[in-house]
Amino acid sequence: MSTDGLPMTVPALDLPSRVRIYEVGARDGLQNEKGAVPTPVKAEFIRRLADAGLTTIEATSFVHPKWVPQLADAEDLFPQISGLDAELPVLVPNQRGLDRALALGARGIAVFASATESFAKANLNRTLEESLAVFEPVVRQAKDAGVRVRGYVSMCFGDPWEGGVPLPQVVRVCTALRDMGCDELSLGDTIGVATPGHVRALLGRLNEAGVATDTIGVHFHDTYGQALANTYAALQHGVTTVDASAGGLGGCPYAKSATGNLATEDLVWMLHGLGIETGVDLGRLTATSVWMAEQLGRPSPSRTVRALGTTTQPHKDK
Ligand code: HMG
Ligand code: MG
Repeated sequence: MSTDGLPMTVPALDLPSRVRIYEVGARDGLQNEKGAVPTPVKAEFIRRLADAGLTTIEATSFVHPKWVPQLADAEDLFPQISGLDAELPVLVPNQRGLDRALALGARGIAVFASATESFAKANLNRTLEESLAVFEPVVRQAKDAGVRVRGYVSMCFGDPWEGGVPLPQVVRVCTALRDMGCDELSLGDTIGVATPGHVRALLGRLNEAGVATDTIGVHFHDTYGQALANTYAALQHGVTTVDASAGGLGGCPYAKSATGNLATEDLVWMLHGLGIETGVDLGRLTATSVWMAEQLGRPSPSRTVRALGTTTQPHKDK
């Protein structure tokens, strides 16, 4: 490490030169908070993330407010941040969600499917097939409106009710979303059980099914401490979109044993150490997570935030 709170850069062979970080802290992170975070705090969080150089920041969800009360303020929040110089995709579970998002001028949405029946039922109150049928017209209308569409697939690597999830089952849901017209997929390890060989195996199967690596993002929760290792495996496969949440906030209210996402700071530390560009200023990002931890009243679970948080000041590094 250098003395200025940055990793020493030592590139590894055969890795991408740039990674797009898809920041999910404001959505995946805050949806899991016990108490409601005030809307102005959320808006300030997102502003600070953009100021730290994050260019894709998932802002909120247009889901049923009773299902996720933590994000029930989406209509109030979105106009407060919509002028920011960043893509601000939002989660949409159905037609009603799309209507709400389009009414506020959202330019990117994400539908969220499950690789398993159990989680489709728990998270969307639908069977897997029913949920795909709901998404089909939503994706089409969004595309017709010129809106970019991401398709999440949860439980790609394991499910708390069903255990192991066969790869063909995951591939089937991924290709269904791709065939609907999703611009990008995100492979969710919702409960954080994946290991690197499993990640490579799924990516290989998806390629065999005609899904191009440059349309795949990875979304690792860090329950078993595997998120960074899994990310490295995905980078070796050529993946260049990685989901992460500032400070390691996160979880899923409808998946028992889901904990926080891969922390963005931990990811940035590794990527910058590998000489991979992200556009993110690690000092500013860490300061943001220290500030957010103060708002939430507990320390960040990110190892990098803990290591740097008390000593670094915001500064430019990339
Ligand atoms: P439902 O109860 O089956 O809804 O919920 P419904 O279609 O039967 O409609 C019932 C009422 O809800 C109707 O109102 C609808 O208008 C209303 P009524 O006519 O009775 O007055 N309604 C809505 N209101 C506002 N916004 C909406 C909406 N939809 C219906 N969008 C539903 C079905 C999908 C809505 C519900 O299950 C839901 O909101 N689920 C969201 C769960 C969620 O947000 N989970 C967390 C995000 S996913 C995740 O975290 C995983 C991820 O990070 C990847 C990974 O880690 O794996 C993405
Ligand atoms: Mg998640």
